[in-house]
Amino acid sequence: MLSSVINDFPFPKPPVVLESAKAAHYNELIARRLKQQNAVLIAHYYTDPAVQSLAEKTGGFVGDSLEMARFGARHKADTLVIAGVRFMGETSKMLSPEKTVLMPTLKATCSLDLGCQAEDFKAFIAQHPDRTVVVYANTSAEVKALSDWVITSSIAVDVIKHLDARGEKILWAPDRHLGGYIQKQTGADMVLWQGHCIVHDEFKYQALEKTIKMYPDAGVLVHPESPDDILQLAHHVGSTSQLIKAASDLPNNQFIVATDKGIFYKMQQRVPDKELIIAPTAGEGATCTSCAQCPWMRMNDLICLSEVFDKTDNEIFVEPSIIEKALKPLERMVNFKR
Ligand code: 13P
Ligand code: SF4
Repeated sequence: MLSSVINDFPFPKPPVVLESAKAAHYNELIARRLKQQNAVLIAHYYTDPAVQSLAEKTGGFVGDSLEMARFGARHKADTLVIAGVRFMGETSKMLSPEKTVLMPTLKATCSLDLGCQAEDFKAFIAQHPDRTVVVYANTSAEVKALSDWVITSSIAVDVIKHLDARGEKILWAPDRHLGGYIQKQTGADMVLWQGHCIVHDEFKYQALEKTIKMYPDAGVLVHPESPDDILQLAHHVGSTSQLIKAASDLPNNQFIVATDKGIFYKMQQRVPDKELIIAPTAGEGATCTSCAQCPWMRMNDLICLSEVFDKTDNEIFVEPSIIEKALKPLERMVNFKR
């Protein structure tokens, strides 16, 4: 069961906050090692802003999960250092098996990946043999190998529209909220796996409504892993990159943002004069567990990153037989054009 997997999982400790001299030391050290190793740092928007900033300064990349995969596949470096969660490292490895793919820690996982084990998923597929199997990028390499398509939130609606227009019925996994959102947007015939993201699942309708009343002119930006009632309140729903773009495109001067607050680093760069407010993760008196911050993304800190080339337990390996099966659905994802 998903809930027991999550509850039993010891949440990693939050990263150590470094004083500026120490942070500068690690920055310099990591930048030097990246150069020596012909390596490039690719970070997700939810990682520590210090890591995102270093990726930018060293000629690396910060982006959403699809852009990270595309950037890594195209880049000439011998080694990709992926600051994110494990499925991102595995995706990069499968798209570039000839490259070395390192992560600050392989313990950085994702509740969607944990909640969709390959054996259980195989049984689910067997119950629906007539359906096209479409999985979210937030899954293990083994689950991807069982699929026809891999997609991310930035192309989800367009891909399902495309498959629906061809008359295909869909089996979707693992995020139930994203699946429900796609179903509503496209009207496609879909059966859904019931996984959830522990971060986005915590946004609460009544508390958000209250926040909207406090900031009546604010635009509401929501990642589609959030529950349906939260999506109903959104002015824009999209992937992390699409939310950043919306903050710039929409005329509002304030935004309430329902996703991991790591995104504020790049969003604020894009809209320096606008006010960004985090959506509430709990009602009055209640507590939150992740509090709009993915505990696994936050494991990618500067200290961990400074050791990335010296460790022996942080390289991504994927079985060649799995790569062979997962590559077709993954290539459909990276090559998909709206
Ligand atoms: P994006 O593809 O929007 O970056 O989302 C990845 C993710 O894990 C969101 O929780
Ligand atoms: Fe997974 Fe949610 Fe973390 Fe994204 S924010 S990596 S979906 S647990």
